[in-house]
Amino acid sequence: MSDTQPVILTCAQPTGGLTIGNYLGAIKNWADMLESNNCFFGIVDLHAITVDYTPAELRKNTLSCVAQYIACGLDPKKSNIFVQSHVTGHTELAWVLSCMTPLGELQRMTQFKDKTKNANNDDDTSSNDEPQSKIFVNSGLLMYPVLMAADILLYNANSVPVGADQKQHLELCRNLAQRFNQKYSDTFNVPEPYIAKQGQRIMSLQDPSRKMSKSDVNLNATIFLLDDPKVIRKKIMSAVTDSSAVIEISEDKPGVTNLLNIYSAFTNQSPEAVAATYDGKGYGDLKSDLADLVIAQLTSVQERYNELMKDTQYLESVLKEGAEGAQKLAFKTLRKVYKKVGFLNRF
Ligand code: TRP
Repeated sequence: MSDTQPVILTCAQPTGGLTIGNYLGAIKNWADMLESNNCFFGIVDLHAITVDYTPAELRKNTLSCVAQYIACGLDPKKSNIFVQSHVTGHTELAWVLSCMTPLGELQRMTQFKDKTKNANNDDDTSSNDEPQSKIFVNSGLLMYPVLMAADILLYNANSVPVGADQKQHLELCRNLAQRFNQKYSDTFNVPEPYIAKQGQRIMSLQDPSRKMSKSDVNLNATIFLLDDPKVIRKKIMSAVTDSSAVIEISEDKPGVTNLLNIYSAFTNQSPEAVAATYDGKGYGDLKSDLADLVIAQLTSVQERYNELMKDTQYLESVLKEGAEGAQKLAFKTLRKVYKKVGFLNRF
């Protein structure tokens, strides 16, 4: 790590576990990313309290999230792994940015509208939507993208790996950086989305037209890193395919193609090569072999995870060091920002 390298900031909420999609993406991208960049990995617990949650669970999930990342191969010596609430600058910068953000812009955010749709729909009896539990529309939900912008700008990140659902939030962050730079003077990098090396997109096992997601309501759609081997086998064996029983890569066969892609990602073979070895065999053979393969690899990740979870002291030392590194950079940015917006020097 050196101060002259580009800064990449990755953040994840401590909710739900990592999926095999996250795992495969991590293996493919992290080694390179850590070599040539100054990497920060934030577990964003402040964001996690914008929705209904249980304190004890949040505490447990935050530590578990750190352990899962390390078990997947994220090297704490080559990156700063930190918890957002440990670095004071996030909320402080968020306040300054919020005073530069028009209310309407936040109210128009797609994710805010989606999350609060249900709460505003009291009288809408015509809706055929599945009944959902009612959500509490707190101001944190509205402010969420501003806090996210603060996360990014606090480290002057050059690039940020984000999924499609976070593009609009990153756009807001870029606007805020530009607005601040124009109003005061050049302060922030305008961050770019980080384009990861093209790995195979891992799709849902139940609806292969959609990406595998940790928040899918259908529990059979997603394989989690920490799933029990029996559960992994059950999910793979019940994956949606089609009735033709010919194993090939084809647009008409998204289910089988997805299984072949997962197989190929776990073995570093091309999906076509995998398909060729199943010439004349049935879907059952493919599924059963794939289950063996995934279970074998995830078992070793799970062993590492279990060891880490037993060593809380080690995990805490990782987080302490990570927060120290992050806080140093955060203070540097905040000092500049506070001065430019007209606050007196802090003692
Ligand atoms: N909103 C992001 C998500 O739900 C998480 C997040 C918070 C984030 N702060 C960030 C992502 C900063 C990238 C950079 O996925």
